[in-house]
Amino acid sequence: MPRVIQVFDTTLRDGEQSPGVSLNVKEKLEIARQLSRLNVDVIEAGFPVASPGDFEAVTAVAKEVTGPVIAALARAVKGDIDRAWEALRPARRPRIHTFIATSDIHMKYKLRKEPAQVLEMVAAAVRHAKSYVPDVEFSAEDATRSNREFLRVVFETAIEAGATVLNVPDTVGYTTPREFAELIRYLKENVRGIDGVTLSVHCHNDLGLAVANSLAAIESGVGQVECTINGIGERAGNAALEEIVMALATRRDYFDAITGVVTEQIYRTSRMVSTLTGMAVQTNKAIVGDNAFAHEAGIHQDGVLKERTTYEIMTPESIGLAKSRLVLGKHSGRHAFKERLKELGYVLSDEEVNRAFEEFIALADKKKDVSDRDIEAIVEGRHGKAAERFSLEYLNVVSGNKTVPTATVRLYKDGELVEEAACGDGPVDATYKAIDRITGERTDLEEYSIRAVTGGKDALGEVTVRIRDNGNIFTGRGVSTDIIEASALAYINAINKMLFSRDVAGKGPANSS
Ligand code: KIV
Ligand code: ZN
Repeated sequence: MPRVIQVFDTTLRDGEQSPGVSLNVKEKLEIARQLSRLNVDVIEAGFPVASPGDFEAVTAVAKEVTGPVIAALARAVKGDIDRAWEALRPARRPRIHTFIATSDIHMKYKLRKEPAQVLEMVAAAVRHAKSYVPDVEFSAEDATRSNREFLRVVFETAIEAGATVLNVPDTVGYTTPREFAELIRYLKENVRGIDGVTLSVHCHNDLGLAVANSLAAIESGVGQVECTINGIGERAGNAALEEIVMALATRRDYFDAITGVVTEQIYRTSRMVSTLTGMAVQTNKAIVGDNAFAHEAGIHQDGVLKERTTYEIMTPESIGLAKSRLVLGKHSGRHAFKERLKELGYVLSDEEVNRAFEEFIALADKKKDVSDRDIEAIVEGRHGKAAERFSLEYLNVVSGNKTVPTATVRLYKDGELVEEAACGDGPVDATYKAIDRITGERTDLEEYSIRAVTGGKDALGEVTVRIRDNGNIFTGRGVSTDIIEASALAYINAINKMLFSRDVAGKGPANSS
């Protein structure tokens, strides 16, 4: 039977301590709801004494998010603990997380306290927290630079006072996997009463070892890991949740440990946290980076297309991504090029593919990444533009925070003007519904993305959509200074390609009566 590791997410507390990040209550609530969908075991919602905003956010999360345990941080002082409890009061499963530093450096220079005083504070804080809630976590800040014997006494004191979770933070990201594993073994063997509590770790990434240290601690028998989405947090950040979870899932044969995380929600959570915090995810970041499932080398692309497991140890679907991405550049092969043509909606003969491929390779020699638009230009140079069944003539959208978004759209349909209107969940949704009414097509919108092509307030917005029709994907693009218009153009472009491809495939014109 695999061991079950509890996942304690501190994106809203330690993650929010990332330099330059500040989330408002609404944003924190949105992330907390998503963390609940991700099915983490504990959400550390904030540090209530730190600010009225933090207090409010903890209360809002405690009120609304009922699945996971909701934790609030408090220094080992009465006022902090009282404030944490006040904020946590509405929670169905509250946890007070109290901490104090135990390393000589921190006690001497930061706390200016003797070890005996710190011990008294540990006992008093845990007892006080315990008077409010049954679930009390105690953290020995800077544990990895603390004297081991003192740490043992600190943890025994916390257990005697009623702590249910003991956390071993590598506060400054100083330890190494083998050393940390040894510390965990030492604590498990020497702290009286440790078997009756959950042992936890909290690793920072100053040396890039946070995930490796967390995994080493799991191997040594801890039952909880503390981590953040995308690894955000103080300085170099915390251990990345997605990396720990996917390491355990992918190497279950080795770790024999599982988590309750719904891995298919990982990508969505990562995107949300990146958008709301404004912290971009590094392109080559493990699991959630843009390149994590992208293959550039022709040999790799060919391998993946023949058998995915040649170069992928996880499926993109397992983290909630639609599929892997084959990056087209000079290292790409014919196989990947042909696949991309298919995705773009082109049905070409072998000879046409060969000619287009030669042109593509010549272009790729000059350009690092060949974009879909380049490929379209190559192909359409030979075949003419995909016949445009529909084109946009007029678009009017009414939207606002107290208005039901409504769109009126007029399209040329085979040369004739047709007008429809529709309401939707937002201006883009309303526009797409009105377009669907005109085309008579019901397509699955697989992806919608928007980016600024140029800088400034008057930036051109480029919208890319991917629609699915009978297992085929069609990509449409639209560019405009008005993002709703760009959205409409992209959608119409994708529909035109879909209809063109159906015609070429000999299925006859689409049913668009
Ligand atoms: O890094 C740290 O030591 C912390 C504690 C408060 C757990 O964040
Ligand atoms: Zn921390």
